[in-house]
Amino acid sequence: MSPLDARHPPGWYILCTARALGRKPLAVQAAGRHWAVFRSASGAVSAVEDRCLHRGMALSAGKVCGEHLQCPYHGWAYGGDGRVRIVPAMKGDGHDWVSTALPSLECRELDGYVFARIGEPAGPPHRFKHLGEPGWTSFHMATRFQAGVDACVENFLDCPHATFVHRGWFRTPTAKPVRCTVTTLADGAQAEFFDEPREKSVVWWLLSPRRGEMRHVDRFISPHTTEVEYEFPNGLHYVITSSCTPITATKTQVHTVISFRSWRGLGPLVRAFFEPLSRHIIQQDVRMLDAQQANLARHPGRPFASTPADVLGGHIQAWRRFARGEGEPVAAGQVQHVDLVL
Ligand code: FES
Ligand SMILES: [Fe+2]
Repeated sequence: MSPLDARHPPGWYILCTARALGRKPLAVQAAGRHWAVFRSASGAVSAVEDRCLHRGMALSAGKVCGEHLQCPYHGWAYGGDGRVRIVPAMKGDGHDWVSTALPSLECRELDGYVFARIGEPAGPPHRFKHLGEPGWTSFHMATRFQAGVDACVENFLDCPHATFVHRGWFRTPTAKPVRCTVTTLADGAQAEFFDEPREKSVVWWLLSPRRGEMRHVDRFISPHTTEVEYEFPNGLHYVITSSCTPITATKTQVHTVISFRSWRGLGPLVRAFFEPLSRHIIQQDVRMLDAQQANLARHPGRPFASTPADVLGGHIQAWRRFARGEGEPVAAGQVQHVDLVL
């Protein structure tokens, strides 16, 4: 697969946070097109292409009138299905005058986000684990990468880069052997790590207990979601879920929900450290992926070389190819052991 593949696999993609969508329509770029997202008077959320059929004005510059989105130029009004309902200068149903409809996306509001259906996904949107559960604290980050979804999801599930890109912050090279078990799932694959070093880094110093086993699982959920989970015997538990929306083939909007359970009442204090730290670390990835993408553009279409240390890379590529209708991923329930050094 070319790292610059322009096609977007079918799926439920996040367009924006539900909070960002007020009474005004919102301009959102996703899957290579521009959309006007709007919430009608009855609360239904829809997305239509941001281009009036009449003279091409941006509908996101218009306003919501009842169940319709009205163009600011001559007032044509569209339903959430992209059909013209009203042409103010003509009597009758607008659809009688203009039979073509704008491309539109079915939308669902879930977990504080607006999801749009692109193509025919196999299932409903993936839900954010532990979000809103009693005893859990969550916060949200929105990050723009100048890189494709493939590069983003692999980066979020890739341990070896952390000793270089996040040295001192998240991981510091210790040259210690780490065991990993990769298990294929019905909708992706996961890697569980054992004996992981967690010394000499700000994240572990602040956010983990000094002693005790850590359970660490990285999970890919096809076609565009990652979950990274750390759990400690004393009850501390962190889940970082990232959902990637392609803006274009080489630009991605990542919506991350970080949920954690900490000692009673300490959630706000943990968050006070955790949130700026997470933003700092993700910006390190933004800079690396921006530079990687810029270099891929100089060398288009070249294949990648991999080693077993790219534990989930092959599964991610196989699942994303499958989501585009090519090939088959490995069947669920297969287990593979990998030894690496971190
Ligand atoms: S351009 Fe939209 S109504 Fe004329
Ligand atoms: Fe990273």
